[in-house]
Amino acid sequence: MTPKQCMAVGTAGYTAMLSVLALEKHGITPDQGPVLVTGANGGVGSVAVSILSKLGYEVIASTGRTEHADFLKQLGASSVIDRAELSEKGRPLGKERWRAAVDSIGSHTLANVIAQTQYGGAVTSCGLAQGADLPLTVMPFILRGVSLLGIDSVMAPKAAREEAWARLQQDLDLEKLELLSETVGFDQIVEKATDIVDGKIKGRVIVEIA
Ligand SMILES: NC(=O)c1ccc[n+]([C@@H]2O[C@H](COP(=O)([O-])OP(=O)(O)OC[C@H]3O[C@@H](n4cnc5c(N)ncnc54)[C@H](OP(=O)(O)O)[C@@H]3O)[C@@H](O)[C@H]2O)c1
Repeated sequence: MTPKQCMAVGTAGYTAMLSVLALEKHGITPDQGPVLVTGANGGVGSVAVSILSKLGYEVIASTGRTEHADFLKQLGASSVIDRAELSEKGRPLGKERWRAAVDSIGSHTLANVIAQTQYGGAVTSCGLAQGADLPLTVMPFILRGVSLLGIDSVMAPKAAREEAWARLQQDLDLEKLELLSETVGFDQIVEKATDIVDGKIKGRVIVEIA
């Protein structure tokens, strides 16, 4: 990968790969059922959608920006759902909709994602875009054997980092990486930072410094 491609992946993409690896290590395979990705237009989400689709998973993308459904389908999502379906307090157990999930949202979203995971499935948690709380019951764990897998990119040991970057080289379609990234000049940082806070950024933004 070029330095620019590495920056396009960044911490978000590397964390997406750590999440996919955690699901694989749990024994999740494409034939078992769909995988949900929350925050699908964000950095972690957009790279997770791309990787999972290349690996042959059926990907359900959850987003607040359903107007970008075509973009998410270009990245490999099979279907797109509105994040509003998951963002309010839900029931302890819901209909079993996906085998696994990559979540970067936390709070009610993560609680609902876990409550709607199929028997024996797994959900990764790496972020808190909605909130750091997790208002759920133990029901999905004790009645459906669902597992919650924590993902940390910061203190991950060197072997895990090397594995993740090697797998990114192998399993991330570089054309999709190009599609989900935009490059801006140093003088556009303030404008782009405002866009991030306003939830207007899609995928990853590379800042050209040199
Ligand atoms: N554990 C780690 O090591 C690690 C590493 C990297 C990132 N993170 C964390 O992971 C999260 C995502 O990072 P990122 O780089 O992907 O951020 P990002 O590019 O800003 O994407 C976050 C996405 O979350 C969704 N979102 C935002 N506010 C929301 C809300 N109130 N309710 C529901 N969805 C909401 C939006 O997706 P849609 O527009 O598609 O709805 C947004 O694009 C952050 O909390 C970050 O701190 C953790």
